[in-house]
Amino acid sequence: MNIPVRLRRLRQSASIREMLAETTLSPAQLVQPLFVTEGTELEPVPSLPGIERIPLRQLAAHCRRLHKLGLRGVALFPKIEPALKSADGREALNPDTLVLRATRAIKESVPEILVFNDIALDPYTTHGHDGVLTADGTDVDNDATVSILVEMALLHARAGADFVAPSDMMDGRIRAIRESFEAGGLARTGIMAYSAKFASAYYGPFRDAVGSARTAGAAPISKATYQVNPANRREALREAVLDEGEWADIVMVKPAGPYLDIIRDVRERVELPVAAYQVSGEYAQIHAAAACGWLDLKAVRDESLLAIRRAGADLILTYFAEDWAASR
Ligand code: PBG
Repeated sequence: MNIPVRLRRLRQSASIREMLAETTLSPAQLVQPLFVTEGTELEPVPSLPGIERIPLRQLAAHCRRLHKLGLRGVALFPKIEPALKSADGREALNPDTLVLRATRAIKESVPEILVFNDIALDPYTTHGHDGVLTADGTDVDNDATVSILVEMALLHARAGADFVAPSDMMDGRIRAIRESFEAGGLARTGIMAYSAKFASAYYGPFRDAVGSARTAGAAPISKATYQVNPANRREALREAVLDEGEWADIVMVKPAGPYLDIIRDVRERVELPVAAYQVSGEYAQIHAAAACGWLDLKAVRDESLLAIRRAGADLILTYFAEDWAASR
């Protein structure tokens, strides 16, 4: 047969496939989310197989291991004692709160690993929302929350965080934080904005891990008045463009796998590095199917990460980071 264009020519050996791979993945592009506790024992999170909450005193050693594997960044999330939670989340502004001690511990012993600190009130509030509520208790108060988040971000920057990562989706918080950093002599601290963060049902296992899923006996909370409607693509782009204009250093799309179109759109519209967060539910569903014997864990893990890179992400926050780097 005369078929001059034969695409299979370029697929016929492992060498040629490897040489012509359009997308690659390296450990420096992966950020490992870490849950930290006050406890003395590693605490498994049942809905996140292979992920454990790490006691503060083991955290630095853990980060050194990650750095040896080639990883260059961690994202810190505290699981605080329920007794420290309140309606206004005031523990977030305690200068000695768990996550700030964790940040200092890492920066003292493994300064070369980049630390990304989540800025939002949900680990600290009894109601699990990312901010403080309005007087009638029916919604999250945008401007009051921004003022608190600015104070929180300053504490994190002074503790040594390389990046603060506001995940709250309040309007105007990126600009407010950048201006306070400039005024406060913290010009070197970066901002990774959770820009296009959707009101997703894929955050379930994360909320188990930090204990923000629900107040005792109450229904799971909805964050739909501040996180983006999963139906909306143009609105997600507006968020990313707005955060670029508010001087974010990195913008993020979250979740990642179900939102590859948004990652691609953001990649094409902003000049900043684009991060994507492969969230807890994406990780959990791959593990669950693999545990049933229905999917090949490693192959699907690798394909899911490659797809996120192919869509246009420069870096990926993923619970697979350590596992991927170790099994390379
Ligand atoms: C908190 C925050 C959430 C995640 C990261 N930061 C949860 C939420 O918004 O309820 C989710 C991460 C994940 O699911 O892995 N603002």
